[in-house]
Amino acid sequence: MTEGKIWLNGSLVDYDNAKIHILTHALHYATGVFEGIRCYKTVNGNSAMFRLQDHMQRLLDSGRIYFMDLGYTRQQLEKAAIDTVKANRMEECYIRPIAYYGYGKMGVNPMPNKVSVAIAVWKWDEYLKGGEGGGGGSDGKGARLMVSSWTRIDPKSLPMGAKATANYANSALARVEAIKAGFDEAVMLNSAGMVVEASAENIFIVKDGALATPPTTSGALAGITRDSIMAIAKENGIECKVRDISRDELYTASEVFLTGTAAEVKPVGEIDNRMIGDGRAGKMTKQLKSLFEAAVHGKDKKFSKAWLTPVN
Ligand SMILES: Cc1ncc(COP(=O)(O)O)c(C=O)c1O
Repeated sequence: MTEGKIWLNGSLVDYDNAKIHILTHALHYATGVFEGIRCYKTVNGNSAMFRLQDHMQRLLDSGRIYFMDLGYTRQQLEKAAIDTVKANRMEECYIRPIAYYGYGKMGVNPMPNKVSVAIAVWKWDEYLKGGEGGGGGSDGKGARLMVSSWTRIDPKSLPMGAKATANYANSALARVEAIKAGFDEAVMLNSAGMVVEASAENIFIVKDGALATPPTTSGALAGITRDSIMAIAKENGIECKVRDISRDELYTASEVFLTGTAAEVKPVGEIDNRMIGDGRAGKMTKQLKSLFEAAVHGKDKKFSKAWLTPVN
C-alpha cells in the first residue's frame, strides 16, 4: 500500500508524510520494538482485531525491556490502532505498530533521544507462499523449509522475549539464505542445536500423535498465534507439549506447521529435502488451522469475546 493514513505520535498523517530523520537512532543501532496484528472480517459482517490487547501489552513489555517509555497507555495504543484501520477504511488488514528511539544525539546510548510511536496498516493476504520460492500456498503443498546455517540469537546476547528490530537482522539473513537456496523459509536452531523457530514464525511438530513446540527459553518469541493454537488445542482435547525439539525430530515428525500473525497457520511440506507426511497439511494441522480460522473470524464463541476487538 502506498497511500492512506499512518498514525504518527498521536496524529493521522498522509502516507507520504510519515517520514523519519536520517539520524534516527533506531536506523543506526536497531533500537526499536514493534508488533504485527491482524484485523479480520467476522461472521457478523464487522471487522475485528485479533488479540489486540495481547499485542499492545507485548509492545509495551518489549519497550520496557529496552528502557523505552512509549508515552501511551495500552488502551491509548489500542484506540490508535483502531483509528488507523478506520481511517484507511480496511475490512481486513495487517497492522504494524512500532516504537523507536528518534534523533538528536548520536552514539550507542539511545536514552538521550525521544521515543516515537507509529502505526501503519496494509493488506497482507498471504505472507508465505509461491513467489519467494514457491510452495506453502493455495496449491495445497506445504512450505519448503531449510535449517539455517545461522544460529538463532542466544537469549544471553539479546533479550529474545522482546519483539525488537535488532532480532531481525538474524532473521533476515536466515530468510534470504533460504530463499536463495530455493526454499520458502528458514528454521533456526539455537547454540545448543535445538529447534527455536522460523525467521518470523513459531514452529509446531506432531510426533507420535502428540503436538509439541519449543519453549520460549530456547530463544523463541512467545508468539500470540502460538498461544492461540495451544489454547485451541487444549479446548479440543489435544495435548501440546512445550519441550526441546531436536533437528532430527523435524525430519521424522508426521506433521510440521508454522504459526505467526503474518503467516497464520502454515503447513510445512518439506524440511531439508525430506518430505513431511505426504507434503501437504496433515490431519492435526488441518484441524487446528480450521479451528484457528474459525476463531479469528468470530465463528467460535468460546474465543471470540476474549480475542476479538470490534473496529466499529
Ligand atoms: C521471530 C518470530 N517468532 C514468532 C512470531 C510469531 O508471533 P505472533 O504469533 O505473535 O505473530 C513472529 C512474528 O511476530 C516472529 O517474528
